[in-house]
Amino acid sequence: MTVIAIVGGQWGDEGKGKITDLLAEKAKVVARFSGGDNAGHTVINPYGEFQLHLVPSGIFYPNVTCIISNGVAINPAVILTEIDDLHNHGVDTGRLLISDRAHLIMPYHILLDGLEEERRNKGALGTTRRGIGPVFADKVARLGIRTGDLLDKDIFWSRLSAALELKNAILKKVYRVSPLSLEEIYDQYCHYGEQLAPFIRETGSIIREAAIKGAFVLLEGAQGALLDPDFGTYPYVTSSSPLAGASCIGTGLGPREIDRVMGIFKAYSTRVGAGPMPTELKDEIGDLIRKKAHEYGATTGRPRRCGWFDVVAARFSVQINGLSDIALTHLDIYDSFPSIKICTAYKFNDEVLTSFPSDIAILEKCQPIYEELDGWQESISGIRNFEKLPVGARNYMSRLEDLLTCPINIVSVGPKRRQIILVKPSTLP
Ligand code: GDP
Ligand code: IMO
Ligand code: MG
Repeated sequence: MTVIAIVGGQWGDEGKGKITDLLAEKAKVVARFSGGDNAGHTVINPYGEFQLHLVPSGIFYPNVTCIISNGVAINPAVILTEIDDLHNHGVDTGRLLISDRAHLIMPYHILLDGLEEERRNKGALGTTRRGIGPVFADKVARLGIRTGDLLDKDIFWSRLSAALELKNAILKKVYRVSPLSLEEIYDQYCHYGEQLAPFIRETGSIIREAAIKGAFVLLEGAQGALLDPDFGTYPYVTSSSPLAGASCIGTGLGPREIDRVMGIFKAYSTRVGAGPMPTELKDEIGDLIRKKAHEYGATTGRPRRCGWFDVVAARFSVQINGLSDIALTHLDIYDSFPSIKICTAYKFNDEVLTSFPSDIAILEKCQPIYEELDGWQESISGIRNFEKLPVGARNYMSRLEDLLTCPINIVSVGPKRRQIILVKPSTLP
């Protein structure tokens, strides 16, 4: 069988949750490998509709071991609520595991995320305010606290006291706000620790063993390539890598174990939060996409910025992820469009750029150069067979495949699990 990494190809919210839920049916292990509860993965299946922030989207199958790996930052209150919510919908979470190496989001991370955003004022990044920047900063600054630390109260006390001493100094002296109580955080997190203890263990060995035995393993990413701290629209990015490379570091698998990398792309572009987005449509077409697709953030409820498909950005994403497959979602949103534009290059001053600039000062000045294709103007959400798609839809896909030099093997035509077209079913596990 196969190890497949599932990654967001654009600025997040491409439909990773839906595709993971679909493919997980035959998986042995599904592991989330990056991000935190800034992610919101929507899954609509016979159990109901869910917005998963931390639990892998394979949780709905009783035979799948679901792992929140070392690369994920965990807010214990969020994971406990999510587990409760799943129970209340009749979903068994008995096969959920949490890595003892995963870092914990602490109250000061959330507080500092908000204070930093306010300090940036007009330059705010538009973070989800879930403490993501501060928790990953502490991880690399070697100040973090991990889930495994909760299992030994003495160790937890000493790590928390050391971290809080510095955080309280920053809160008081830099931001001039009240310090946090060591005892209160300690008691609250010890309580979380007791509830989470049955889930916490070393998890990398489980994933490696499944991969070595040839089981089907899915590695579920969060966010999207253009939010990567190295390759995204820096500094308008998130703080952990959403790229396929991070699926190794975030789980403990070696790179040679990954067989395929599937990039999830919307048929158009969306972005939530600040930062450059060359194809953004601040007009009635952008509004129409937002309305038809309910483009409001699953985590924060903010309206998503909408625009045409950006090939320059997407091709960069294909390259930095080393994609082997694409799943194209939301193709149904274009059903009523008489024509559809694709951005194939950027105009920057007098130059035509076909590669994605590393500097946002350049990107912000880029004007999209469009190619226009005919639409199909019929509903495709009931279609399950590639050959039955209207010619316009197949032309659109084939043009994207040519421009991106990567095959589209899955097409999603609606939010529900079965609203899907497997283009070459025999190539999927
Ligand atoms: P994720 O973060 O990548 O898992 O994506 P989100 O769940 O944040 O956002 C995707 C949204 O689009 C959700 O509301 C899904 O229910 C919905 N969705 C997924 N695929 C499709 C599709 O093919 N068509 C339509 N109309 N909606 C979809
Ligand atoms: P999923 O997994 C879309 C965005 C935020 C903000 C930037 C930094 O659902 O695709 P952060 O809170 O991470 O420090 O915010 O990143 N962002 C996402 N946008 N989908 C996500 O996750 C996102 N996670 C973070 O809106 O612009
Ligand atoms: Mg999302």
